[in-house]
Amino acid sequence: MKETKLKVNQIRKAFPNLPTLQNISLELSESQFVSVLGPSGCGKSTLFSIIAGLASPDAGEVLIDGQSVTGRPGRVSFMHQKDLLLPWKSILDNAALPLFLQGVSTGEARERAQQYFHLFGLAGFENYYPAQLSGGMRQRAALLRTFLFSKDILLLDEPFGGLDAMTRQSMQHWLMEVVQELKASVLLITHDVDEAIWLSDRVYVLSRRPAVVKKVVEIPLKRPRQMNLFTDATYIALKETILDCFQREV
Ligand SMILES: Nc1ncnc2c1ncn2[C@@H]1O[C@H](COP(=O)(O)OP(=O)(O)O)[C@@H](O)[C@H]1O
Ligand SMILES: [Mg+2]
Repeated sequence: MKETKLKVNQIRKAFPNLPTLQNISLELSESQFVSVLGPSGCGKSTLFSIIAGLASPDAGEVLIDGQSVTGRPGRVSFMHQKDLLLPWKSILDNAALPLFLQGVSTGEARERAQQYFHLFGLAGFENYYPAQLSGGMRQRAALLRTFLFSKDILLLDEPFGGLDAMTRQSMQHWLMEVVQELKASVLLITHDVDEAIWLSDRVYVLSRRPAVVKKVVEIPLKRPRQMNLFTDATYIALKETILDCFQREV
């Protein structure tokens, strides 16, 4: 039985005159990949800010390794749809930023970040600047930086939302392989049903705002997953189950 890394317990959050999260509970175990699928505006990014400790819920708690971290940042790292790389710094220094911030010396930080460049498909681009890279490469650099912030829990908020369909698909494929290699626990926010199924061990389907968990769907598809999975009967059945619940919310 894998250990529970992250537990979100009955979170509620309202903005003035805007009930946003009504009651959200979810769990993420060690080395697991879990997605939160919900319609636009239902409160997914709000939930992420709460999990990251950047906002406080009105009720409920966030536990990491069994300890409450509600309203306290620093324990998980998270990545937005926009890559937020520093345009005046090389890709290597952008990736190594979390290590610089931790006080690691420049030489050592660069060396440690560089070790991951091959896995992240960035080898040879260490000294390029963000503007010289494709959208997919920038997202991979941002993901590497996120990973170096906190190696065990990654929160990804629609990380591929700004990419074109082809790049998005190859990034989803790549991400599936890389998280397996890194053994990270990942919570992904998305409104893309295929992305959620393809990558996840479990999918939480949220309702419209004020959001509740409408359905929890386990994804028992074997890994590594291949592209022909999209025509697999189990895959199609899972997609129907999720769509049946999700389409009523969009
Ligand atoms: N800081 C805030 N103050 C007031 N309203 C907010 C704030 N952040 C988000 N909202 C509102 O809460 C709702 C959910 O937003 P968000 O969490 O960004 O949704 P999602 O990420 O699912 O698209 C939206 O209606 C948004 O306008
Ligand atoms: Mg959002």
